[in-house]
Amino acid sequence: MVSAQDNSVSAIEWRDDALWLLDQRQLPLEEVWLEHQEVGAVVQSIRDMVVRGAPAIGITAAYGVVIAARGRRDQDAYTWKANLEQDIQDLAQSRPTAVNLFWALDQMRAALAKLSDDEDPIVQLLREAKKIHRLDVAANHAMGRLGSAVMAGVSSPAKGVITHCNTGSLATGGYGTALGVIRSAWQQGLIDRVFADETRPWWQGARLTAWELAKDKIPVTLMADTVGATLMKQGRISWVIVGADRITANGDVANKIGTYNLAVLAKHHGVRFMVVAPTSTFDMDLSSGEDIPIEQRGPDEVVSVKGHRLAPENIEVYNPVFDVTPAELIDAIVTEKGVVERPNLAGVSSLMKKHSLH
Ligand code: MRU
Repeated sequence: MVSAQDNSVSAIEWRDDALWLLDQRQLPLEEVWLEHQEVGAVVQSIRDMVVRGAPAIGITAAYGVVIAARGRRDQDAYTWKANLEQDIQDLAQSRPTAVNLFWALDQMRAALAKLSDDEDPIVQLLREAKKIHRLDVAANHAMGRLGSAVMAGVSSPAKGVITHCNTGSLATGGYGTALGVIRSAWQQGLIDRVFADETRPWWQGARLTAWELAKDKIPVTLMADTVGATLMKQGRISWVIVGADRITANGDVANKIGTYNLAVLAKHHGVRFMVVAPTSTFDMDLSSGEDIPIEQRGPDEVVSVKGHRLAPENIEVYNPVFDVTPAELIDAIVTEKGVVERPNLAGVSSLMKKHSLH
């Protein structure tokens, strides 16, 4: 079993020859684990947000390929490899924005192409999925160290930070991206409080980030999505620290809807803005954020809460669940391989060239 170090939550586990996911739709009221033995169920769980967060989606999809391979091989020992591509494509269609999903599937495709005849192929594919999982946790710890070092290098009278959505253990293999930096900065006394916004319409901040931080005894204040400007004006915030679902070659960042709002507010108030994401979140094939596909979800998330309708019947709803923050609003992008300050094409290209992924 892969377990997250230094913090209390892990949301993705491989045990008893199956994939187990902590159902994030039920948190924090109930901790329900769902077992997955079929690739169709894995696709559905990603789509329905049993598991969510860019790196966590990628890790889940990697285990999904293992499950799919096992099923295909049981059906036909000769054609299973070719047939598996259909399952990989189904996994790829589960959610459109987080590029970690496509990155992880490409890693699994590469492992499939390199299978050796000496060992059970399912064992080899499982080893690759566990490696993706383990390296994600390691990357988060590296980003925690690098991001907190950036914070230590900038003096600020304020010691509060704002974070958005959930970027912690639940959204990754463990420890977290933006929440990993926050965990590390808290341990070093660089921050004294985290302001987590609710993150409407899915409440990742209220339900998941507040829960994770409270579990770790890191002081956290929950606020409505609209409170950030007031806190910044009061001089209580040194940094806004967020994760990412896709970063393009010029340093534009797609992340949970509302991230762009915070970046604009931070610029106006002289508050620094940090994005924390592993290099698997970069899409160097896209030149700018305008090309990122933005997921649109159904109206129910907006018109009702837990099945309780609040808005009028038949009201038109617009529910894009990510937005794009332009690079010029970002002070630093922190990855496991290094930090790009004031990101642009040259800075991002140099980081990605210096450290090719494999
Ligand atoms: O819709 P979600 O909950 O999958 O969106 C998650 C986010 O936007 C996170 O900020 C992002 O994936 C980074 S998670 C480390």
